[in-house]
Amino acid sequence: MTPRLRARVAGVGACLPARVVTNDELAERIDTSDAWIRERTGIRERRIAAPGETTSALAVAAARRALARAALSPAAIDLLLVATSTPDHTFPATATAVQRELGIPPSPAFDLQAVCAGFVYALTVADSLIRTGHARRALVIGAETFSRLLDWEDRGTCVLFGDGAGALVLVAEEQTGTVLDRGILAARILADGRHYHQLYVDGGPSSTGTVGRLRMNGREVFRHAVTAMTESAREVCRRIGLPPSEMDWFVPHQANVRIIDAVAKRLEIPAERVAVTVDRHANTSAASIPLALDRLVTEGRLEPGQLVLVSGIGGGFAWGSLVLRW
Ligand code: UT7
Repeated sequence: MTPRLRARVAGVGACLPARVVTNDELAERIDTSDAWIRERTGIRERRIAAPGETTSALAVAAARRALARAALSPAAIDLLLVATSTPDHTFPATATAVQRELGIPPSPAFDLQAVCAGFVYALTVADSLIRTGHARRALVIGAETFSRLLDWEDRGTCVLFGDGAGALVLVAEEQTGTVLDRGILAARILADGRHYHQLYVDGGPSSTGTVGRLRMNGREVFRHAVTAMTESAREVCRRIGLPPSEMDWFVPHQANVRIIDAVAKRLEIPAERVAVTVDRHANTSAASIPLALDRLVTEGRLEPGQLVLVSGIGGGFAWGSLVLRW
């Protein structure tokens, strides 16, 4: 076997705003019910950032926990990626605010915008930069304050999302070049802009000069989500020569428990090996996958050496899947 550089996970961390908003609380403000939301989405509650609690603040807190678990100081980091669609400011990159706050020395730091697929995209980019020798210790964060983009009068969307952040530390490691290696083993990212208006924000600096509000054609998104996640998940598994059913964990983007169940069923992955956090967090976009990974580790369920299949889709549509050995 030819030895090769791998991006291995050295630590995971998460941060959720303190404020819990239940379905019943939303039902006091808009025409909805706990029963409808739970039945159609699996969501019971979500966290909402406090006034002044920014995406970068959540990102920094998640990053500190991931660094502590990796036993690394911020000074060791030489690549910082923040996957977000809710940056603190239009520019500069939220990653540079995180870099300043953590005291990470001059190194590449940038935001990556692929909405709910953002974390899969960011891991794929970090993996490529590590394997080509551009970085040795990367901090990859998914952080969002989607509550700031919601139309709180639109019951079809405002009940679906929440705020939060999660982070992974990846380290470069020379390994054997086989499927037994720890780290990212295969990744596939894609987008299809023909679906631009199925899920988008109706504002922005160069279109309206306003921040805008989230708009979604839920049924279309649902349909594409199941197909795209299933197909890209199958492809990355094929690349490492194992069927999806051999994965120890499936950690999908958390938008709707019905989407998660439909994809897991098609991939023949039993429910006990599927991470579900949408009930407590709702859809936190780019943060949902690292938040779910953090939960598995904190509960002692995800162990070193286990195979993890991650998959996500969001606006664009942009989507992708990745297999890693923890
Ligand atoms: O991260 C990727 C982004 N997002 C997603 O993956 C979301 C994908 N889509 C979905 O999860 C689902 O399509 C939704 C949860 C958004 C909607 O579920 P659905 O089963 O497709 O419902 P629907 O949109 O077809 O609406 C059914 C009914 C409608 O009433 P009528 O026209 O049948 O009388 C809606 O007005 O449910 C109504 N409705 C609600 N009722 C109570 C829509 N939202 C609500 C609500 N409370 N919050």
